[in-house]
Amino acid sequence: MRIREGLVSLELPPQGRVNIPGGAPAFYNPHMHPNRDLSVLMMKYLAALRGAPFQAVETHAATGITSLRWHKEAPEAVTRTFSSDISTESIAVFQRNYALNAIDEKAYVIEETDGRKLLEKLRKEPIHFIEVDPFGIAIPYVEEALVTLDNQGILSLTNTNLSPLAGSYVNACRRRYTAVPLKNEFKHEIGLRIFIKKVIERGAEHDVAMVPVLAVAHQHFYKVFFRKVRGARRANELIGQIGFLLYCPNCLNRRTILHVNQSAARCEVCRHGFHYAGPLWLGPLVEDGVLEALQRIAAGMETLSPVTRRLLRMLEGDRDVPSVGYYQVPRLMKKWGLKEQPPIRKILRWTEGVRTHFAGDGFRTPLSHAELIERLSARLPVRIDVLEPAPWEADDGGA
Ligand SMILES: C[S@@+](CC[C@H](N)C(=O)[O-])C[C@H]1O[C@@H](n2cnc3c(N)ncnc32)[C@H](O)[C@@H]1O
Repeated sequence: MRIREGLVSLELPPQGRVNIPGGAPAFYNPHMHPNRDLSVLMMKYLAALRGAPFQAVETHAATGITSLRWHKEAPEAVTRTFSSDISTESIAVFQRNYALNAIDEKAYVIEETDGRKLLEKLRKEPIHFIEVDPFGIAIPYVEEALVTLDNQGILSLTNTNLSPLAGSYVNACRRRYTAVPLKNEFKHEIGLRIFIKKVIERGAEHDVAMVPVLAVAHQHFYKVFFRKVRGARRANELIGQIGFLLYCPNCLNRRTILHVNQSAARCEVCRHGFHYAGPLWLGPLVEDGVLEALQRIAAGMETLSPVTRRLLRMLEGDRDVPSVGYYQVPRLMKKWGLKEQPPIRKILRWTEGVRTHFAGDGFRTPLSHAELIERLSARLPVRIDVLEPAPWEADDGGA
């Protein structure tokens, strides 16, 4: 069976086009088209930034579609690619597809091996872009990748191990990511921020700052691009932006703290006990200037998925209001006792809000939670259950 994605033709064995991870010898997942689009865009962005092409690595190549797309769609960026996969069948499919797409044999190296072994072998090679896209958790590959990557290079990580990060398996999240997740209306943002935190910590162990350049949660995957910047001072700056989220399940208040000793036991709006998540990354999910550059590059490419273009538009909100956590309109309505849901565009106007790529019915606002309640209460019959203070908490003026 032959398919096309981007500028690449792919010849797949009949069972190659499947949606279940591990379900076929040469795994091609059409739903990951936007993921690969982002990788091509980021590669072109890096080439423009450096003003020179570079060598790139793909550790989990499967059919080879991603690195084939780099060669065909970002020829100005890539001089040579190194790819690996542990599956013999994948490697055979991959090699056939390189020939089919007439890629110069000197421009690629394919190895049937573990991705970590390939990275270790390439330590002395100049490498400016590394793509890691395993089934499940990407963390076990981070250390080899960040050591092999050149300074100012980009590490692109896809993580599909989402249930622990999004709060379905709390202990697995503690084990694998050393953090407590929280299953609320913005659980995937929390999961993404925990994932970023873990990668930053891995970098910091080597006095390296793994700076998040762009972070996306879409369908069943998280994808984050990190820039490697050598230096303990830059690593310290990132570590200084790791903290905790406090979240009130009663009135939906949320705020962040850097140290647990700053935690207030109760929500200052309704006095309900806070839940917490973390440690997690509190900094921006979109680095300054990156989204505009990717949008400009995307405008000149005809073969991107419409989903990718929409993602790039929706990410503008996440860039413009870098709050930790967003609001989801139906959840607000339910929790605040509101029967009629106003159109989201009105809510955005009332709250100086923006959309978020995480959820179609979500929005971010630069307002504090108390200010948000005040703004919406002026237009809607907001009802929040405020708990009575316990007798020992009552302010009795010191009497
Ligand atoms: C999610 S697929 C990769 C999909 C590919 N990046 C794409 O865009 O089509 C994961 C691949 O990793 C391979 N794999 C699993 N463990 C590996 C390891 N330790 N090193 C290298 N490849 C591995 C599997 O054989 C499979 O082809």
